[in-house]
Amino acid sequence: MSKLTIGKMREMKAQGKKIVMCTAYDVPTAKMAAAAGVDVLLVGDSLGQVVLGYDSTVPVTVEEMIHHGKAAVRGGGGRFVVLDMPYGSYHISDEDTLRNGLRMVKETGADALKLEGLRELAPRVRSLRRAGIPVVAHIGLTPQTTTMLGGYRVQGRNRLEAVGLIEAAHALEEAGAFMLVLECVAAEVAATISAQTEIPTIGIGSGVGCDGQVLVFYDLLGLNQGFQPSFLKQFADLWSGAISGLEAFGQAVRSGDFPDAAHSFPLSAEEREAMGPLLVTGR
Ligand code: KIV
Repeated sequence: MSKLTIGKMREMKAQGKKIVMCTAYDVPTAKMAAAAGVDVLLVGDSLGQVVLGYDSTVPVTVEEMIHHGKAAVRGGGGRFVVLDMPYGSYHISDEDTLRNGLRMVKETGADALKLEGLRELAPRVRSLRRAGIPVVAHIGLTPQTTTMLGGYRVQGRNRLEAVGLIEAAHALEEAGAFMLVLECVAAEVAATISAQTEIPTIGIGSGVGCDGQVLVFYDLLGLNQGFQPSFLKQFADLWSGAISGLEAFGQAVRSGDFPDAAHSFPLSAEEREAMGPLLVTGR
């Protein structure tokens, strides 16, 4: 399957065809997502929690995003890859944002960058766009700034918040963002934003009215033990499969059943003969 273009994503929205996105953080996750026909890969800074074990996405660095971004692009087989700008990399100035953004795109080969915020992001979007970098704006529950939002809670449940989200969506579209990620936005508000914008909206915990959906690879496949927010549906239980496989490996090693001859490199009769009395036998 060839890489989706931004124009094609807009067309999909216009035609009511849903866009499928999931996170990918390295070669195997990107390869699996690509093989499954996922449209867009997101190298999310969720990697900080999911694969690096941080408490939040706040500590994630530009270097870590570049390290994982390169691997995901290599594994993605030409899929459209969006790379998250981590906390602190776009908060100082337009110039600093551009310096970090250019580095992230040049060093990874990602197709686009994603930034979290509301309408205050508009100047950042403009300056990245002027440099030719496509931008996804992530609004709603923005994990990099949950303390300011009062914790991990649904956004847009009251008129003031709903107006803020709708205005932000318009301002970011107008600034040149080509896609919006709506995280944990009340379903009707997300549907309103999706109806009022021409750029695709990708929801996570924001209802079916969005133009596509994104989930974290490890969450949707049941690999993120103990993480079960109410919006998350697990589509497979790879954790159990992995534990059974590892237990079977342990048992086979302890019992001596593994490795058997088929998984070893025994000498041929001639090779053994040529070694004379050198070798210990019977083990
Ligand atoms: O970092 C991430 O994985 C994300 C998605 C949850 C949208 O931003």
